[in-house]
Amino acid sequence: MGASRHTKFLLGLLYFTYCVYGNFLSVSSVVALPSNIICNKIPGLTPRQRSICRKRPDAIVTIGDGVKLGLRECHYQFRNRRWNCTNIDQQNTMFGITHSVGSKEAAFSYAINSAGVTYEVTQACSLGRLKRCSCDRSKKTGHYDANGWKWGGCSADIKHGLKFSRKFLDAREIKENARSLMNKHNNRAGRKAVKENMETGCKCHGVSGSCTTKTCWTTLPTFRKIGNYIMKKYGRAKLVTTLKAKRNKVPSHLIIKRLKNKHTKPRRSDVVYLEKSPNYCDHDPLKGSLGTVGRTCNRTSTETDGCDLMCCGRGYNTHQYTKTWTCNCKFHWCCYANCNKCSERTEEYTCK
Ligand SMILES: *[C@@H]1O[C@H](CO)[C@@H](O)[C@H](O)[C@H]1NC(C)=O
Ligand SMILES: *[C@@H]1O[C@H](CO)[C@@H](O)[C@H](O)[C@H]1NC(C)=O
Repeated sequence: MGASRHTKFLLGLLYFTYCVYGNFLSVSSVVALPSNIICNKIPGLTPRQRSICRKRPDAIVTIGDGVKLGLRECHYQFRNRRWNCTNIDQQNTMFGITHSVGSKEAAFSYAINSAGVTYEVTQACSLGRLKRCSCDRSKKTGHYDANGWKWGGCSADIKHGLKFSRKFLDAREIKENARSLMNKHNNRAGRKAVKENMETGCKCHGVSGSCTTKTCWTTLPTFRKIGNYIMKKYGRAKLVTTLKAKRNKVPSHLIIKRLKNKHTKPRRSDVVYLEKSPNYCDHDPLKGSLGTVGRTCNRTSTETDGCDLMCCGRGYNTHQYTKTWTCNCKFHWCCYANCNKCSERTEEYTCK
């Protein structure tokens, strides 16, 4: 109840900032806005994040867009699973989802969130929406090489996106403990996912598009490609534990947890987690599990969306309904269409 009011307030605020920045004022005049007022009002920022917000108010809307992008992709990737990227405690919308357990799902959330922010910042740079960045000028050679190939156009400035995403999202980790090491690692895995998936776009020149010479630039892939990539990493997520450096009170780095006492660091691109996931079958607020009661499932599927797995063996309810739609449209010259109404009886299944 309190949480939902909180969310509405934040969304309202984001919308407000969006209107102010997006429609009424050009980016250059944003500085004239009392950014300290906006930055103080966004709930859940750490002091360091508040200070970054005040220095770069133009980037805050972009960060919000990045978080939304990550969240949408998370919902898509997990649509057929027990945990569907929806948590009980969703008040902190500006930063995606909060997780009480350091699970694989928490790991995915951080990685996709960080990838979303990196992506949107990089995009905003290319579109000239942010003050301190634009296209990547280092990727502009000006002359064709022996193969008739040159860098040109606007190459996406991924470096700025990576740096700003790291600065802002890692500034959320104020504690020095295992969980913050995990979160920061997954933030990095998310940034790396964007970097690894950058693409090259080219334009051909020459007689009737014969491509004797071409100009190329680096470009962002679709965000779906990045989502699929992080989902693969999630499938191979590494269980880790912490290691303290000598004479150090706080854990200093993560190592892969194995039976043998061998110290192996996870790769930078690995998604890492500290704790077993809850099974997400039952409603358990402490573990961040909503339970699957009422979720729709597929009676014939043997995958995670199948009723057996989705409903955790509790069984399912069958609902019958009639689907109606317009069909068999015939177009007549000119300009109208005759259509029929088609209908079909369908069944839907929901978990008990
Ligand atoms: C996600 O799951 C929750 C509860 O398990 C449910 O209320 C919600 O509608 C689901 N969302 C989607 C998009 O399926
Ligand atoms: C249910 O699962 C089957 C088998 O995986 C699939 O062919 C079918 O399209 C699914 N139905 C829906 C409504 O998703």
